[in-house]
Amino acid sequence: MSAKKSILVGAVIAIVMAITAEGVIAQTKTLTDEELGIRKETIYDEGTVKPEHGEYSRETPGKSKRIERSFENSPPLIPHDITGMLPIAETNNICLGCHMPDAARSMGAVPIPKSHFMDFETKKDLKGKLDGKRYNCVQCHVPQTETAPPVKNVFKGEFREKKGKFRSNLIDTLNEGVTAE
Ligand code: HEC
Ligand code: HEC
Repeated sequence: MSAKKSILVGAVIAIVMAITAEGVIAQTKTLTDEELGIRKETIYDEGTVKPEHGEYSRETPGKSKRIERSFENSPPLIPHDITGMLPIAETNNICLGCHMPDAARSMGAVPIPKSHFMDFETKKDLKGKLDGKRYNCVQCHVPQTETAPPVKNVFKGEFREKKGKFRSNLIDTLNEGVTAE
């Protein structure tokens, strides 16, 4: 290393050290127990703190507005009211009444996609029979509330096709990039 260069490196190190030292001094301002958490309550007793929850959609099915997907082929959020539809039971699944492909058209509902009529483990086409692992719709599809998140979410989903914001094509893209020997 030339003498000129080593002086330059030395100067940079000195600046970094100065910044770090200043950082340490700045950090000596202590935070109170109330300032530490996201909820701005003492971290030793959150007994009375209720998380902000917001209100679910009260729009009846057919009147609600579909919500843009979070990312390509993500499970769509439920835009309509589901009061009285839960719990989904072995002998009673109200969702099917509107969302099974046969019924969906006349109900104006989005039909359950082909991916739900296939067993992903055995790759078997179930010929119109819903895969048992898909029976409990609300395991993956959830309603949405309007709330201001305490921490801003900066995630932005990518969509290769514009229509992917409202439609699925998982069954066609599932094995994308996978090559079998
Ligand atoms: C009375 C008929 C009806 C029932 C029952 C019903 N839905 Fe819907 N669903 C609709 C309609 C119609 C839409 C389209 C949005 C609208 O018009 O309100 C929809 C939209 C959706 C969507 C959004 C689809 C997309 O691609 O944007 C999901 C997810 C959904 N419903 C899940 C469910 C689940 C889970 C249940 C059971 C808990 C259920 N629905 C019960 C009629 C129904
Ligand atoms: C294991 C998770 C899971 C379960 C359980 C599940 N889904 Fe889905 N669903 C998804 C995912 C992921 C997608 C988006 C990718 C795709 O189409 O497969 C989707 C897509 C959908 C769509 C949108 C179809 C389209 O063409 O845009 C509807 C409607 C739907 N599901 C309804 C249902 C209903 C009704 C049930 C219950 C009988 C259900 N799903 C159960 C994960 C699930």
